[in-house]
Amino acid sequence: MSVKRLHVLVVFGTRPEAIKLAPVIRELQRFRNRFRTSVCITSQHRHLLEPILRWFQIPVHDDPDVMRPNQELCGLSALVMERFHEVLARRRPDVVLVQGDTTTALVTSLAAFYHGVPVGHVEAGLRTLNRYSPFPEEINRRLISHLATLHFAPTNWSRDNLLKEGIPRRRIMVTGNTVIDAFFETRDRVVRRPTKIPELRGFDFRTRKLIVVTAHRRENFGPGLASICRGIRRLALERQDIEIVFPVHPNPNVRAIVQPTLGGLDRVHLIEPLDYPRFVWLLSQAYLALSDSGGIQEEMPSLGKPALVMRENTERPEGVKAGVCKLVGTSAEKVFRTVTRLLDDHRAYAQFARRPNPFGDGKAAQRIVAALHDLRSLTP
Ligand code: UD1
Ligand code: UDP
Repeated sequence: MSVKRLHVLVVFGTRPEAIKLAPVIRELQRFRNRFRTSVCITSQHRHLLEPILRWFQIPVHDDPDVMRPNQELCGLSALVMERFHEVLARRRPDVVLVQGDTTTALVTSLAAFYHGVPVGHVEAGLRTLNRYSPFPEEINRRLISHLATLHFAPTNWSRDNLLKEGIPRRRIMVTGNTVIDAFFETRDRVVRRPTKIPELRGFDFRTRKLIVVTAHRRENFGPGLASICRGIRRLALERQDIEIVFPVHPNPNVRAIVQPTLGGLDRVHLIEPLDYPRFVWLLSQAYLALSDSGGIQEEMPSLGKPALVMRENTERPEGVKAGVCKLVGTSAEKVFRTVTRLLDDHRAYAQFARRPNPFGDGKAAQRIVAALHDLRSLTP
């Protein structure tokens, strides 16, 4: 007797969601006899998504196409709700999988809940306990935790956060973070077929130390980001032994500050966002990363290199505790001093190396899909 396949609708809209769900989609596709997998992209990030879909060969079944120039949160949320409602009504999945804490993840979870469809939340339980930082992600993820049926927590710490909020233990699985699965796969493929970044042709990364910078957090827009840029500017002006490569996020609020402060400086290379293989290659050449990104905090420990986090707090304290990430905040002085110390003090630098990555082992997607096999016994 054949068992009815579980129809899993995977939905995402931004760069990090795509990278972190790609391994899960791949794993679901390995079990075609058990799962029917549909993929919906909201295209909250249109330009950043496309190369990821190609790299991981992700098929797309629905594309509600919500991205607008300089979109604000209410308009974006309304559009995602309206368009995802139509997708749910048409596809009628057995379960919806979302990732992380974006507007796409929150609003599609709420729509699925209204449709009576259980939600599986990948990367559940991250918290800063400050409702305004990161904004709006901290509130997004807390709300998703109360809409979801299955919670895939990357670490024991994130599991404990969910338990404290009253989420039943049997609905939580500790899986590791799927970004490590994506990172390992990409690193291995990039090593086999090295990739090139045209703007960086002719650089000798053996004689200059490469510092990779990214920034995009909404709560840093304005004074925080301006201060970060002043710190980076000072590094570029005072240090002859570094090259700074900064793929600038397409959000116009980021570009409006970064371009005027850092454009045209020697040894600062402002470039367009890189596709995932090129970015992974860049990280592998880096001396350190200076970033407010969540994903980069998780990836750098796998390379044994410092991730300096330009935020006042983090929902990923496991990295700081393990000594593989360091919170530096947004003060120009602190950014400058912390980087300078790691450039000059080799013992301090060496402490970041050879520590196990607390965020995952590359097998998170397998654990998530194994848990989905048992979904029927857990719902409603
Ligand atoms: C979003 C997420 C954030 C996540 C980040 C990852 C929300 C509220 N924010 O922030 O949680 O950490 O993505 O990068 O969900 N744009 C383009 N092309 C693109 C992408 C963006 O032009 O491919 C521009 C558009 O003008 C867009 C703007 O950037 O309106 C902002 O995009 P949005 O998704 O609203 O916010 P992010 O800052 O990217
Ligand atoms: N990334 C990328 N190209 C870039 C910058 C980042 O592919 O130019 C990758 C990075 O390796 C990580 C993810 O994008 O996997 C992080 O996305 P982002 O910083 O936009 O979001 P966050 O992780 O902060 O939510």
